Amino acid sequence: MGRPMRIPPFRLEQFFARYEFNVAHLLCASDVEGVPLAELLALADPETRTRYDGLKLGYTEAWGDPLLRAEIARDYAKIDREHVLVCGAQEAIFLTMNTLLGPGDHAIVAFPAYQSLYEVARAAGADVTLLRLEAGAGWQIDPQALKRALRPTTKLIVVNYPHNPSGALITQETQREVVAVAREAGVHLFFDEVYRFLEHDRNERLPPAADLYDKAISYSAFSKAYGLAGLRLGWLATEDRALLERILAMKDYTSICQSAPSEALALIALRARDKLVARSLEIIRTNLELCDAFFAEHEDVFAWKRPKASSVALVRYKRPERADAFVERLVQATGVLLLPASAFELDTNDLRIGFGRRGMAAGLEKLGAYLV
Ligand SMILES: Cc1ncc(COP(=O)(O)O)c(C=O)c1O
Repeated sequence: MGRPMRIPPFRLEQFFARYEFNVAHLLCASDVEGVPLAELLALADPETRTRYDGLKLGYTEAWGDPLLRAEIARDYAKIDREHVLVCGAQEAIFLTMNTLLGPGDHAIVAFPAYQSLYEVARAAGADVTLLRLEAGAGWQIDPQALKRALRPTTKLIVVNYPHNPSGALITQETQREVVAVAREAGVHLFFDEVYRFLEHDRNERLPPAADLYDKAISYSAFSKAYGLAGLRLGWLATEDRALLERILAMKDYTSICQSAPSEALALIALRARDKLVARSLEIIRTNLELCDAFFAEHEDVFAWKRPKASSVALVRYKRPERADAFVERLVQATGVLLLPASAFELDTNDLRIGFGRRGMAAGLEKLGAYLV
């Protein structure tokens, strides 16, 4: 008999469930300010607008709308439409882990990480090694340490760059070394690229992992770079078509197919990707400047270092008080919400700040007033 799946609560999501929709100043979200529907529709070309207006709300294709898959594939060099599977944002993680891993298998997950990246692997029955990234090393993965963590039973390596919660990025050289470790061992590499395109310097963008190795799986979603978290859509891209077929077979037990309106809107978004990514980066750059000024003024309380990418960063809380206690006091007194690093099972006295949303200036002002 198999065992029932047991999975601990998702700390980050439970934290947000308590606060996200009832605080005045959300300064720790990881997504980018949601695009208003009317604004997105105004970006539609005649073909995508006609498709949206004539949309029938029936089932959709399990693989995803062929036009959407083709549009996704344009961001890869080696991936064509047949090697893209559209699915739910979280669902992509859930399905991949449950397809690739089971009891007796080993997985290595770079840590700290978005919790589902290791928790779902564990719940699938795998033995999971958390490969620790260190603040002192700029949250860079060490390919040699990765190599040492390999076992004969290792089936999967899981990495996320640009990195949540730190906003760190690795160099192309380090990425190639990580790929080489996976290739030598013949194991799949799950590369979480949901913050891709949010590099603060365009020249530091990494190529998608799926272009570098035939057993790499590039995972992404519409929530961050495109400001479309509400679509709840993501995708998997890999040259390993047989793996996608296995994942698809499992998807028949989760969603079967995507929401039709979400797919139609995602197609509009990708055809206007340059405008949407520029919008996201504009919000992020404006907020980063506010952060630089704010933390320079309050360096007695916080240690801030500008991250290289994404819409999140970790800020050290320098007072002897625990970051958790500060977060609680702060939100009760001011409605400003920061995220304690404990939500990522980190024991450092860090706070995650999110700077993808509008309204940062007002939140920082409240925070500053509370500090004095
Ligand atoms: C690294 C990482 N992967 C995956 C996700 C999941 O994205 P979504 O919010 O669209 O489910 C997130 C969301 O915060 C994330 O930070």
